[in-house]
Amino acid sequence: MTRVFSGIQPTGIPHLGNYLGAIQNWVALQANHECIFCLVDLHALTVWQNPADLRAQTRQQTAVLLASGIDPEKHILFNQSAVSAHTRLGWIFNCVSRLGWLNRMTQFKDKVGKDRENHSAGLYVYPNLMAADILAYKAVKVPVGDDQRQHVELANDIVKKFNHDYEVEFFQEIEAFVPAQAARVMSLRDGLKKMSKSDPSAQSRIDLTDDADTIALKIKRAKTDPEPLPSSLEGLTDRPEARNLVGLYAAMDNLTPEQVLARHGGEGFGPFKKALADVMIARIEPIAKETSRLLDDTGHLDHVLRTGAARAAAIANPIVDEVEQIVGLLK
Ligand code: TYM
Repeated sequence: MTRVFSGIQPTGIPHLGNYLGAIQNWVALQANHECIFCLVDLHALTVWQNPADLRAQTRQQTAVLLASGIDPEKHILFNQSAVSAHTRLGWIFNCVSRLGWLNRMTQFKDKVGKDRENHSAGLYVYPNLMAADILAYKAVKVPVGDDQRQHVELANDIVKKFNHDYEVEFFQEIEAFVPAQAARVMSLRDGLKKMSKSDPSAQSRIDLTDDADTIALKIKRAKTDPEPLPSSLEGLTDRPEARNLVGLYAAMDNLTPEQVLARHGGEGFGPFKKALADVMIARIEPIAKETSRLLDDTGHLDHVLRTGAARAAAIANPIVDEVEQIVGLLK
């Protein structure tokens, strides 16, 4: 069975972008893949986190993932720092990866803006650790949103250089699995900005813990333009907010954007937003309710993570032992 690996940072609450870009596909891939899902707490540290919040958010995200349908019995769910193979391989990849490759990473450039000198070295080498996350398990399929595509390409550069430099065929190239719909969910306040946990406006995103009223209100207030919905895709050109909402509807209701427009073309945003909120509430509210139930039993959540980490370590440790052998570390 093909091995799948993916991760999410336990910062803030997962939002609709995380759900449609990643989590929904993680759940679906479980049917016919061997899946390993990770709360990447070491990646979260690349930007300062309040320690108590980081611990609480790691549990909360575990609850959200379980509530979304991740099965920790058949598959593996754990937090990154509990398996030391990630940092062991991450260091080796720091030495394989090239500064020139890291300098091209658009996510790093977007995050630091003009203030590059004041960011952590960890943020800069982050893609090397991400490559280690995947390759410590020799996973080959990586379900992610569009914004992670470049990091997966860098992981493949590491695969090629590692195999070349050490004259081995140890790692295999990996494949980013990016959904056809909603690979890049945009902010509800600005159709040109990605929906993000770090956006200061809570109105810009739907959190997976939002209740029905909050979802309905956020959709009602979502930025739009004054024109009614077009009947064809061409009519969405230069209408980023309208395009985002149509894309969200399509992804939530398993339709294509063309089908959404065939149904709703000509409608004003009032009725369309009402229909969109209904579809969204039907999908998100059960997750929010189950998350809140799961959060009442942190003992269970910790048990899931501990068991997952032991199973993950049993796969990753022998692989990373072998890598250390290949590169010449005396064992
Ligand atoms: P993170 O925590 O930023 O996001 C988790 C997943 O959600 C996707 N995503 C989105 N998809 C669509 N629209 C959006 N607005 C949106 N925002 C986020 C992301 O693409 C991601 O799939 N570096 C990763 C975590 C990571 C990882 C890994 C992933 C660490 N190691 C190994 C895969 C494999 C990150 O920061 O994701």
